Amino acid sequence: MEINIVSIITLTTVFMSILKVNSLECYVCENQEDNNEKCVKTIATCVYGQDVCFTEIRWGSTPYWSQGAKKQYYVSKRCSNRTECATTRERYMSLCTHIWYQDWVCSDCCQGDRCNYYIISGIGNLKPILGLLLGGFILLRLID
Ligand SMILES: *[C@@H]1O[C@H](CO)[C@@H](O)[C@H](O)[C@H]1NC(C)=O
Repeated sequence: MEINIVSIITLTTVFMSILKVNSLECYVCENQEDNNEKCVKTIATCVYGQDVCFTEIRWGSTPYWSQGAKKQYYVSKRCSNRTECATTRERYMSLCTHIWYQDWVCSDCCQGDRCNYYIISGIGNLKPILGLLLGGFILLRLID
């Protein structure tokens, strides 16, 4: 009898720890100017069925998509699910240009606790800089 009770307690403990592992943790924030403060400090425990962490990064002006205004980043992070993530990514596909003089929006999802710490899409920001460097290099060669 005693063994049975021990088994039950052990099983319960194992079960509880599995449940705990299953509730995903993501960083959450809404339209922040950069990937600091809120976006790397606020952590939410996702509800059942939310199996990925979602990150959205916008580059643009306020109000959105207005020509000639000063542009900045808008970073948002939240819990999501794979279905919603795929739909959003598809919707943003043609808008995710990373062209600095245009407004753009990109989204990304990842699996694992707090996996949306870094903004992977941000790597694309190097492209305009590389373009400028390359342009400068070619110009120098032409002057030579
Ligand atoms: C995914 O999330 C969306 C939005 O919150 C919800 O409408 C949808 O039912 C969810 N899908 C699944 C499979 O959980």
